[in-house]
Amino acid sequence: MAALISVIVVTLLVATTCGGASACERCARQGKAAYSPSLSPLPHGDGVCGYGAMAAEINGGFLAAGGPRQHRGGLGCGRCFQVRCRDAKLCSGEGVRVVLTDFHRSNRTDFLLGGPAFAGLAKPGMAHELKRLDAVSVEYRRIPCDYKDKNLSILVEEQSKLPSNLVVKFLYQGGQTDIVAVDVAQVGSSDWRFMTRVYGPVWSTDRAPTGPLQFRAVVTGGYDGKWVWAEQEVLPADWQPGQVYDTGIRIADVAREGCQGCAKLDWK
Ligand SMILES: *[C@@H]1O[C@H](CO)[C@@H](O)[C@H](O)[C@H]1NC(C)=O
Ligand SMILES: *[C@@H]1O[C@H](CO)[C@@H](O)[C@H](O)[C@H]1NC(C)=O
Repeated sequence: MAALISVIVVTLLVATTCGGASACERCARQGKAAYSPSLSPLPHGDGVCGYGAMAAEINGGFLAAGGPRQHRGGLGCGRCFQVRCRDAKLCSGEGVRVVLTDFHRSNRTDFLLGGPAFAGLAKPGMAHELKRLDAVSVEYRRIPCDYKDKNLSILVEEQSKLPSNLVVKFLYQGGQTDIVAVDVAQVGSSDWRFMTRVYGPVWSTDRAPTGPLQFRAVVTGGYDGKWVWAEQEVLPADWQPGQVYDTGIRIADVAREGCQGCAKLDWK
C-alpha cells in the first residue's frame, strides 16, 4: 500500500451522556425543510462553507443549507444528513442524502434543500406537487459521508503565500467525523506545527515549514478521537494556491458507538 497510515487512539474529554454529545446527532430528529432555488450548485453555490463550484461535485449536487442548530461554529460544514419528509402521499420512505454546504439564519427551517435534493424527497411524479408547499415536515439524522473513490483532499486556498502562510480546506471527509485538530510538518520531521481553524473545513498557519509537507489530524466520531496521519508527501515544496492535493487516506468512522436511546425509527 502506497500510503502508510498509522492510527493512535487518544482519549478525549467528550460528554458521555446523550444530552448534547455529538454521537446523538445520529439519532433521528424532526424538523422542517424547504425548497431553495438559490442552492443550485452553480453558479451561486459559494455558500458559507466556501466549497465554491466544487460543491457540485461533492455529493452529486445534493446540497443543503442548515439552520442555526446545524451550524455549530462552522463544524457543520460538510456533514451529511439523510432527510425524509413525512407526508406519506407525496414523499418517498428513504428520502435523500445531502451534504451541508451553507447555512441560513431562520430557525423555522432546519434545512433548505437545492432543487435535486428537494425533488428527491418526493415519490416518483410527485416532486412538482411537493415544491408548491412552503415547508415540509421532515425527519433527519446525521449519516456517514460517503465519497466513494475520493480520498481526503486538501485545497490550498487562494490567500496562501509561500513560504509560510498556508490556508487549507479539507475536502471529501468521510464518515460521521469531525476534524478537531490539524498539524503540519516537513516530511520526515517531527517538528509538528499546529494549524488553527478559520471556520468549518478551513485551517491556517503563518508558520508553515518549508519543503514537502505531511499532515496529521485528530478526528472524532461519537465518543472517540484518533490521530490520523498522512506520513508521506501531501503538499510538494512548491505548493500552489488554488490546487487540490490528495492525502492518500480516507477517513471513515472512527467509533462504533451510537447514541444510547435513539428512538427506533424505520430507516432504510
Ligand atoms: C428563533 O426562535 C426563537 C423562539 O423559539 C425566537 O425568539 C427568535 O426570534 C428566533 N430567531 C430567528 C432568527 O428567527
Ligand atoms: C487514494 O489514495 C491511494 C493511496 O492510499 C491511491 O492509491 C489512490 O489512487 C487514491 N485515490 C484517488 C482517487 O486518487
